[in-house]
Amino acid sequence: MYVITGVTGNTGAVVADTLLTAGKPVRVVVRDAARAAPWRARGAEVAVASLEDTAALTAALRGATGAYLLVPPRLASADPAGENRAVVASLAAATRAAAVPHAVLLSSIGAQHPDGTGPIATLHHAEAALAEVTALTAVRAAYFMENWGASLGAVARGALPTFLPRALAIPMIATRDIGTTAAAALVEGPGGERRRVLELAGPRPYSADDVAAAVAAITGQPVAAAEAPLDAVVPTFTSFGISATMAALYREMYAAIIAGRVDWEGGATRAVRGPTPLEDVLRKLLAR
Ligand SMILES: NC(=O)c1ccc[n+]([C@@H]2O[C@H](COP(=O)([O-])OP(=O)(O)OC[C@H]3O[C@@H](n4cnc5c(N)ncnc54)[C@H](OP(=O)(O)O)[C@@H]3O)[C@@H](O)[C@H]2O)c1
Repeated sequence: MYVITGVTGNTGAVVADTLLTAGKPVRVVVRDAARAAPWRARGAEVAVASLEDTAALTAALRGATGAYLLVPPRLASADPAGENRAVVASLAAATRAAAVPHAVLLSSIGAQHPDGTGPIATLHHAEAALAEVTALTAVRAAYFMENWGASLGAVARGALPTFLPRALAIPMIATRDIGTTAAAALVEGPGGERRRVLELAGPRPYSADDVAAAVAAITGQPVAAAEAPLDAVVPTFTSFGISATMAALYREMYAAIIAGRVDWEGGATRAVRGPTPLEDVLRKLLAR
């Protein structure tokens, strides 16, 4: 039995879909039972648990061969770091209590650093906590291609806003490829390794200029990347309803990307490449 958290989100849905399509037994974990109906209809078991409810999560994880775990974003929280610490502690305690033999954690590029990377630092601590209690596969995903969805509103005016230097090419990945990679890691199992790290990127790095060119090619309209200064991160994000604390963490993350701190660890990690090109993701985002 493979237990999948975050099944109503970007990556968890793909993990569950991939496993069910392959005929594997799946249990999805949801907070709201109603949201599990499509999964139940496809033959998945359903467990209702909040990730911070260790007792409910332990029950959800019992009997698992492997579990897909993530630390959900806390966009509106005044204390995202504190709430994330509670989720990480609960994930680790429940994984241990349920004796889950293998966890596949959605982590991030840059998670080798304990701090100075904004929200990514939480994933450093999640990797460490889970590695203490089970065999861990950390899927360190690059910047999601889907993040560009937030910038597409200005495309009609010919602009693609970005907090990154427009020519800076960084690794990016489609969330579909994260889900399929995680599903494959679950089925493969830990293979006797206590801790392995998959560093997951798409076919090639892309810059904001590349994204703008791809959007222009798809829409047939001229689009240019429009750089905004780092000082604009907090006011922009808070205007979208993100808490000031969380927005400050995102500012730290953008600064760390620009400084090159959000990079691959290399060494003993395994580099994995997803096949989905940026254009495929942009086409879907633009069709919404
Ligand atoms: N964006 C990037 O560029 C990037 C890059 C690398 C790594 N990451 C990491 O990716 C992760 C997010 O993954 P994602 O995009 O697949 O998720 P997502 O689409 O943001 O969805 C979050 C999922 O978690 C569930 N959830 C939220 N709070 C919960 C709680 N308290 N208990 C149980 N379930 C809860 C949500 O379910 P409900 O329906 O109940 O809300 C939803 O299914 C984060 O850890 C982020 O740091 C992001």
